[in-house]
Amino acid sequence: MTVLSVVGARPQIIKASVVSEALRRASVPEWLVHTGQHYDPAMSGELFDLFGFQADVNLGIHGGSHAEMTGRMLVALEATVVEADARIVLVYGDTNSTLAGALAAAKLHVPVVHVEAGLRSFNRRMPEELNRITTDHLSDLLLCPTHTAMTNLEREGLGARASLVGDVMYDVALMVGERARRQSRILEDHGLDDGGYVVLTLHRAENVDDPVRLGQLLTYVAEAVGERPVLFPVHPRTRAVLDSERIRDFGMVMTTPLNYLDMTRAVIGSAEVFTDSGGLQKEAYFHRVLCTTLRDETEWTETIDAGWNRLWTAERASTLSDIHDYGDGNAAERVVGEIVQLLESRCG
Ligand code: UD1
Repeated sequence: MTVLSVVGARPQIIKASVVSEALRRASVPEWLVHTGQHYDPAMSGELFDLFGFQADVNLGIHGGSHAEMTGRMLVALEATVVEADARIVLVYGDTNSTLAGALAAAKLHVPVVHVEAGLRSFNRRMPEELNRITTDHLSDLLLCPTHTAMTNLEREGLGARASLVGDVMYDVALMVGERARRQSRILEDHGLDDGGYVVLTLHRAENVDDPVRLGQLLTYVAEAVGERPVLFPVHPRTRAVLDSERIRDFGMVMTTPLNYLDMTRAVIGSAEVFTDSGGLQKEAYFHRVLCTTLRDETEWTETIDAGWNRLWTAERASTLSDIHDYGDGNAAERVVGEIVQLLESRCG
């Protein structure tokens, strides 16, 4: 009856934390496989410690081109799914680890469950968009965070396999907010006042790999924030370009990637967030902080409709409405309810 879950990148470890806990509560045995895509302690090991769980195996695969990374993961995950005698493979989000897990399982005729299914940016130049589309079409059960995601799947003829469960990131945000206020010292460490600074993150390939685009984005943010300090935790991908191209930093407070508790505290205390991260756009919304998304489109259109988020090119709506459309903080329970039903139908 083993469920084999695949994680690899930072946000997947965060999402898996609540689902793994719900699987434990439902007494469903789980094998948690970390592909190794993210390996810096702040983006991997420390997250497991924070949420009090561990991967059963780490495949140690990272770096290289998309094909190399995905291909190596595919080979290793095939062997792991066989070894674990997995009855279901559970994948999260839209990374190369997600695609490799889904493809390995589908080829072995093991049912695939996709958590955070149905998101679309409609920009096929993003590796994540290709990963999402392919994973959704390979999956047997598509667990959606929002109504928009359900509609996207219906349009692609996948509605019959889709179910609306809410957003597991909302479950995590509700749990971690209070703990972050109590335990994190991030504001004190950097001399920042609640409400008096701005948070910036950038890591998308389409934003950071081209130094001209990266420079434009930093200039845009520097102009938009005026005198307010900018806390900028720098992803390793972005750090490499900043260092090699000597891009102007506008006196921003640059740090290494923050742990999840510090990041949550930083968002809660900020006046505004500027980001190209899907997860952070939503976390800003969950904590009722205004966000400017540094991309030309977003998968999380509800945050824009509600007025809390805007694209960097567009005008912000003037009215803000309440948090809606991301469930009620019990998405992980619903994910596991769906998995148990699928296990029962497949395994008798
Ligand atoms: C990946 C995901 C992206 C997700 C993001 C979350 C894909 C295609 N993209 O992007 O959807 O939003 O993770 O953070 O899977 N690196 C380190 N240390 C680390 C991790 C990465 O130095 O712990 C370096 C890698 O060696 C590589 C670069 O950063 O050179 C990019 O890492 P990669 O995993 O390819 O993609 P991300 O940009 O992290």
